[in-house]
Amino acid sequence: MELKRRVGYEAAKLVKDGDVVGLGTGSTTHYFIEKLGERIQTEEINIFGVPTSFQSFFLGRDLGIPITTLEEHDVDIAVDGADEVDPELNLIKGGGAAHTLEKIVDESASLFVVIVDETKIVSELGSFPVPVEVIPQATRTVKEHLIEMEGLPKLRMAERKDGPVVTDNGNFIYDVKFNIKNPKKLETEINTIPGVIDNGIFSQIVDKVIVGKDTGIEVLKK
Ligand code: A5P
Repeated sequence: MELKRRVGYEAAKLVKDGDVVGLGTGSTTHYFIEKLGERIQTEEINIFGVPTSFQSFFLGRDLGIPITTLEEHDVDIAVDGADEVDPELNLIKGGGAAHTLEKIVDESASLFVVIVDETKIVSELGSFPVPVEVIPQATRTVKEHLIEMEGLPKLRMAERKDGPVVTDNGNFIYDVKFNIKNPKKLETEINTIPGVIDNGIFSQIVDKVIVGKDTGIEVLKK
């Protein structure tokens, strides 16, 4: 909790007056968005937020961050969390099922910054299963393709709702265990399966990772 707050607040310092900001999703970006709301109040900076989920839309709006869309603005800086970060700064995201819009917003940004606590740093991606967003009509066929690719897919089930998780886009999520040797190749291959919207591997799009450690903050760059 404390490390997440620290990196969230640190990333908020990178936002400049006039920026259009990609608002990532999750418990770490919560603190980033909170600090941006505070900066709007205390420093009177003018910024716009582009949300990556209903979660960040509601939070940003409630904190007084003017909201815009990719149709209207280019994103100067996007700040987002991650579930795993490897030494080449490839990511697994989507623990909160928001990776499709996150990837669209984060990839479009001039600067994409990831904020994590040190538990997310790994030597190789894959302990965390890869989230794959699937249109409901393709649930069975996508599963068969994922198994052919030597993945172990598990349909993500909802809590406090019967049945599967339904994403912000009205789709289902498979969490797929893979032995990941080449993140870029796997990311591309999964996305060629008909019915897959996008998967949670983000290869080679990160500019900077801010890591919260017990001993302080470390910045990793490409
Ligand atoms: C949302 O779907 C995810 O990509 C999150 O950004 C990621 O799971 C990190 O979340 P936490 O900051 O809550 O760990």
